[in-house]
Order: sequence, then C-alpha cells, then structure tokens
Amino acid sequence: MKRKLKVIVVGNGVAGMSFALRLADRMKTEGVAIHMLSRTGPEYSNSNAAQGGVAAVIHPLDSWEQHRDDTLEVGGGRCEPAVVELVVKEGAACIRELLDQGARFDTDDRGGLNAAREGGHSAARVVHRGDRTGAELVRVLQAQVKLNPNISVTETLMALDLLVTDDRLGRRCNGIRTIDVGSGEIKLHHADVVVLATGGAGQVYRHTTNPAGATGSGVAMAMRAGVPLRDMAFVQFHPTALYAPEQEATFLVSEAVRGAGAVLLQPNGERLMDGVHHMGDLAPRNVVARAIHAVMRQQNAPHVWLDATLIREARFAREFPMIQAHCWSLGLDPAREPIPVMPAAHYICGGIRTDAQGRTGLDGLYALGECAGSGLHGADRLASNSLLEALVIPKHAANSVMSSGVQNALPHDAVTGRYHFTGPSFLTITTMKTLRDRMMDQVGIVREDAGLHAAWRDLKKIRQDMERAWASGERSMELFDLRDLVMVARAICGQAIEEPRNAGTHWNADANDDHSLATVRMN
Ligand code: SIN
Repeated sequence: MKRKLKVIVVGNGVAGMSFALRLADRMKTEGVAIHMLSRTGPEYSNSNAAQGGVAAVIHPLDSWEQHRDDTLEVGGGRCEPAVVELVVKEGAACIRELLDQGARFDTDDRGGLNAAREGGHSAARVVHRGDRTGAELVRVLQAQVKLNPNISVTETLMALDLLVTDDRLGRRCNGIRTIDVGSGEIKLHHADVVVLATGGAGQVYRHTTNPAGATGSGVAMAMRAGVPLRDMAFVQFHPTALYAPEQEATFLVSEAVRGAGAVLLQPNGERLMDGVHHMGDLAPRNVVARAIHAVMRQQNAPHVWLDATLIREARFAREFPMIQAHCWSLGLDPAREPIPVMPAAHYICGGIRTDAQGRTGLDGLYALGECAGSGLHGADRLASNSLLEALVIPKHAANSVMSSGVQNALPHDAVTGRYHFTGPSFLTITTMKTLRDRMMDQVGIVREDAGLHAAWRDLKKIRQDMERAWASGERSMELFDLRDLVMVARAICGQAIEEPRNAGTHWNADANDDHSLATVRMN
C-alpha cells in the first residue's frame, strides 16, 4: 500500500493552522499525515496576540487595486508586485470563508462587516473582532485542527535544526530535530515536507509587542541550513506600545485606536504628526515611529502621548475592550486622559525567502507567515496585511505540497539523546540582556553606520560567550533561544549594513539619499 505523505508543520499560529487544514482537506483521498509541533499552545502565538485585524476589500467603493497600491506604497518600492496582487485579490474570499467557519467579526448597525482604518490604508478595510482579531482566528482554526483526523498536534517540542540530505534526489530537507521542553528528549522526525511557520523574532529587541516565543527560531534554523533569507533589515516598529516601565511585557495599543480618532501628542501637548505626513496620525508605521523617536530624542522623553479622549467612551469600550481593561489595570483611563506610548519592535518584514507558494530555496522546505519573506511587505508592512498573508499563501502552499508527492522511503523517527536541563547561567542571562539593550538598540528605528558596525562586531563576539556557557555544561532553553536570537540579530544587522539606501523601516541617518527627505520631520 502506498504510504501517506508525511508533513511536519513547525508553529501553530494562523499560517501553520490554515496550511494544515488546507492540505488535510485537499489530500483527504490520497492520505496525508500532518504533525503540527510547537513549544506552547496557539494561545501564546504571535497570531493570537494580533489586535487589529485582517485587511480585506469588503466595501463597494474600495478595490483590490487600491489595496495593492497602498501595500506597494508602504512597502517603499521593495515589494514583489505579483505576490501583492495575488494576496490582496483574495482578501474578501478569505473573510467569507472564515465567516462560514464560524468567525465572528464586528458588524455595523445594518449587520454588514465593520471595517476599521489603520495606518497607510486609503480606505477602511480592516475586518476585526474588537481588539482580539487574532484570537478569534485562532479559535476558529484551532477548533477545526482538533477535529481533523489527519492532523496530530504536539505542544511541547522546540525545533532545533532542519535535517538536510544530499543524495541522488539532490539537496533537500527531510525532517527536523527537536527537544522536548519538559523531558529534554532529543528526537529526529522525518518527513517528506517541512513547513516553518514559527512567527516573528521581536524578542531580539528590548521592547517588543511580540510574545516570549517570538525568537526567530525558523529563520535561525533556515540560516543554519544555508537557506537564503531576504529583507531582514526591515523591522517594523509599532508606533504605539503602552509605556509602562514597571511591566515585564510590552502591551500593544492597536493602530485602530488612531483609526477611530485618537491622536499622538508630544510631551508638551502639541500634535505630534502635524506637518510630518499627509496621512497625519495614520501615516505608514515607519513614518510615525520615526517621528515619535525623533521627538523622544529631542525632548529627552521616555514616551509620547496618545490622546483617545475624543473617541466616545461607549465606542472605545465596544471596539477596544482588551486595551481598555489593560489600561484600567494600570490606573490609566483612555476615555479621560492621554495614555503614555512609545514605539516597540513589532514585525519582521523579511524572512526566509519564498515564492508565492511558500517554497524556499531548499527542496522539501516551505516557510509561511511572519518567518517567511514572500516579498508581500517589502520595506514596511501595510497594517493588518500579515493575517491576510497567513490565510492566503498557505492555500497556495498546500496546492504545491500536494503536487510534490511522496518521496522515497523515509528513515524512522528516532530518539538520539536527552539533555538534563540546568536552568540559565548568569552568562546567558547577561548576554541576552546585552544583546537586546545594547547591541540591537543600534539596529533600531534610526541607525547609524558606526552603531551598525559596532553591533556587528559585538554580535560576532557573543558566539564565544555561548560556547563558554555550553562548555560549562549549561543546557537551558534560554541558551537555545539565545543561539537563535543571535543568528537573527546577525541577519538583521548584516543586511542593514548592506542596504544601499533608506526605504520603509530601514533608516540609516548616515545614508545621504533624496528618498530620506520624504520622511524627515518638517516642523
Ligand atoms: C494593530 O492592531 O495595530 C496591529 C495590527 C498589525 O500589526 O497589523
């Protein structure tokens, strides 16, 4: 009997789950065994944290051409136009499908979908469920994954490395090596196809809206296997994370709050975006984040203000219940007073280089969602295009995997050892802190030649610290994470050094090009 196609999906956010469901559906008759593995449940994924929504053309006066143009404009001339077109054209169909699957999006008085405004969009086209849209998508997809007999799920495995073979079939990925985060067991899992959907890498920065698991593990694994990346210099900083220095995690205040009428204020109370960009407070994120950064520097202020008092309290409560509750828990009341905000690392626009079907430069390996560099986002991501990408490209990836077929016989999965976890050493903890606080601070919103080169030199030295920690017997999850974070940091910094000109989120103050004038503060 012909064996089933064996597929491993690493990561359980929207991209991973929508791929698994599509493939399971397409291959019902041929047979497929999909194993989704991750370190934690999807409630800890980047997708689950997404507040804003899914960008989709749902209004009769809007068009996919306008959505395309907004995406290309925000992407600073660095998008792949064919990928942009493919993705934005399928927005409305994705929303219809999600509704059929039971998704509950916010509606207006007449029962139509209520689309919000976000930065860089020329129309209101962000379909959302309050300020917890990602969680709604995760709920709908996870319910289907649980019921699907062709999908198995393990939520205690950290992927360490790709298994790569080079034989008569050529160089290809045929599995992964994992560590069980509970038992420390190391195991090889073989598969015809491996799909990386590991999410973001915001943890490489000190302030990030991303959850703790956003360590760039997929990108790091791909790098170790020599798989090409793209656009890693382009790191999007969200303009409005809540400033709360006593809190460990950084909390996002959705851009939809500005879409509903909130405005940014300088520390002295003056409007921050006046005279900066014709879209004002809803300018592309790189423009707003840089304007805030400049004001914070000039006025030596740890934050600026977001004034949402013009939004009616009932509307705020209805559309942003999580943000309201979080603010209240910190003694802030957005209905009555401006709240303190600052930019924080939010999204890696690049990633593992893929085509529009998620295929990477290594046979048998696909990448989807934030860890992939499909070319959709270019130098800056249009708000809420990422959940859309995580729904559209997996569909095409599933078609591609289906036609790739079963390879020759696979080796059996095997346990190859066990680490006895030690907990992190002082060296690992301090190295992680230095990476985030000092080195990557030089590779942030505004970069300079000297800072980039200093960070690059320091990043090379970190390797020795990690080797010392390993040689001293340390076996901790923090050390595995550090290994990934340092690789991703090197990719970001290295590509930032090589970027010939400023575009989107990459801003080198020493680059002397005309384009930079377009985003300099005018007042
Ligand atoms: C937000 O709600 O502001 C974030 C949405 C996104 O990053 O696309």
